[in-house]
Amino acid sequence: MDVRSYFPALDRQVYDKPLIYFDNAATAQRPQAVLDLQQRLCVEACGNIHRAVHKLSADATDFYEAGREAVRRYLNAPGRENIVLTSGTTASINLVAACFCERYIEKGERILISAAEHHSNLVPWQLATARQGAQLEVLPVDDAGELSVEELDRRLKAAKGRIRLLAVTHISNVLGIVNPVKDLIETAHRYKVPVLVDGAQGILHETVDVQALDCDFYAFSGHKIYAPTGIGVLYGKKQWLEAMPPYMGGGEMIDTVTFEKTTYAPLPLKYEAGTQNFVAAACLSPALEIARKMAEEPALQENLRTMRDYLREELQKIDGLRMYGQPRDPEKKIPLFSFTVEGAFPADLAQILDKMGIAVRSGHMCAEPLLNRFGQTSMLRASLAPYNTLAECETFMTVLRRAVRMLR
Ligand SMILES: Cc1ncc(COP(=O)(O)O)c(C=O)c1O
Repeated sequence: MDVRSYFPALDRQVYDKPLIYFDNAATAQRPQAVLDLQQRLCVEACGNIHRAVHKLSADATDFYEAGREAVRRYLNAPGRENIVLTSGTTASINLVAACFCERYIEKGERILISAAEHHSNLVPWQLATARQGAQLEVLPVDDAGELSVEELDRRLKAAKGRIRLLAVTHISNVLGIVNPVKDLIETAHRYKVPVLVDGAQGILHETVDVQALDCDFYAFSGHKIYAPTGIGVLYGKKQWLEAMPPYMGGGEMIDTVTFEKTTYAPLPLKYEAGTQNFVAAACLSPALEIARKMAEEPALQENLRTMRDYLREELQKIDGLRMYGQPRDPEKKIPLFSFTVEGAFPADLAQILDKMGIAVRSGHMCAEPLLNRFGQTSMLRASLAPYNTLAECETFMTVLRRAVRMLR
């Protein structure tokens, strides 16, 4: 599979240098099939979904629902009603935080999150618990960046039923460690605590089967898995989606409306107020198809491991470089490296790399408390996708070593 030929952006030159795109954890590049469908729908099926009887609307609805079905299959969800389409991971988590807390949380009770959360799986819970007079509790990570199932058990026992939900990331966007979500979920369920998994990074690097995981909610964004921005997914177990109140009101999320009373549409439309991003939703089909193809291609998976091991080894050779997220089992690490280098600011390094055509992330990575846990306010991050190459990693290392020398 000539994977690079699927992604036209990879042929770009940046400042007259071939682009090396190592910021995939922020947003992945889009394959031609997604770009083609996007363009085609804007011309052939630009009609609002689930509304009119005319051909354009009917076709747009079919494409939208095909996108939902592609997600259902990808996650092995039991039914269409389990898949709510949102604008992204952040929107999905805000939905659950607001609706779950409104229905299930009372003063003095708690939501448990981990110390490794992106702001998108932290701030929504802060807002929602504050509204109910409830609190947030934080499950710590150790110096390696790992979560402890035993510590979770201890906290749930100590909470005596006052923890109402666990919200935890599948893979941290800073640490790049695959968390033991199955064990965390099993443990939480022993205490009848439901679990939301932030799958913004997990969806790309793991095979996600929501029934096997037995998670109560799973959230991810399309743009990190080769679809356009502005589309996201919330998988939820039916029992929760049915019991929670709607999130936003308006549009087709209703059954009947009078001035006195409104009844709501059946799942999943109950949570899909207003005009959805139906073009982006439709694009989930080709995006997930290529994601699946890449995940099932042994050569690409081998390449990811080779690049990961190469970068891990070479980065550690740089004097004064500190890497964050080093699991005891090295196979639990995805090819995502966040690090700091003594005597060189991450933003300065990122700028030099950029001038050489290499895109990386620098800053707080939307995880300030996690960076603080490791005594940092800013890091540099290189995050890889299956379309990256070992030659790119070698160029990256050469430029990084030179940049460090320049700044010291
Ligand atoms: C772990 C994690 N959670 C949540 C998000 C938020 O995703 P989005 O901005 O697409 O809503 C991100 C994005 O980087 C992420 O990495």
